[in-house]
Amino acid sequence: MIRPIVLFGDEVLDKPADPVRNITAEEVKLVQDMIETMYKAPGVGLAANQVGVAKRIMVTDPSSGEKKDQLITVVNPEIVDVDGEQYEEEGCLSVPGFSAEVVRPKRVIIRGVDLNGKEVIVEGADLLARAFCHEMDHLNGKFFLDHLSFIKRDIIKRRIKKMIRDGKWEPHSES
Ligand code: NI
Repeated sequence: MIRPIVLFGDEVLDKPADPVRNITAEEVKLVQDMIETMYKAPGVGLAANQVGVAKRIMVTDPSSGEKKDQLITVVNPEIVDVDGEQYEEEGCLSVPGFSAEVVRPKRVIIRGVDLNGKEVIVEGADLLARAFCHEMDHLNGKFFLDHLSFIKRDIIKRRIKKMIRDGKWEPHSES
């Protein structure tokens, strides 16, 4: 089931998501829906709070569904190591229409558990490293915008706030 993606302005995206204590059928269904929603968008990553569920779960697929073995689901992810730097244009399904260059590590190692509760340790480089960092930001209540200079961030936030006032930006999307 494709779920609506919540947009910048919804408070679920402004606070850290909660750790998952038990993986039940509810979490399994949530992950299935997150994957479907990510592919439909299309995007290369999605955090659970982007579909309105404040749980520490993320899915990533740098091929966005093109290659079956690229899909990674991590519950309670944490970054355990980073290395290098990359500087690329980055956008966000919760901030549609805006993008900016953001510096990220070139390689990132993530640790968490899979849907069976088994430990997973994954190393990502390039786009996958970027997606890991981007989704970790969401789970920590942050946006890629928080990595921009104050002036760049302020310009984007003002434009979004104006769209919210004008009724052109609905944080709790129902579509
Ligand atoms: Ni995002």
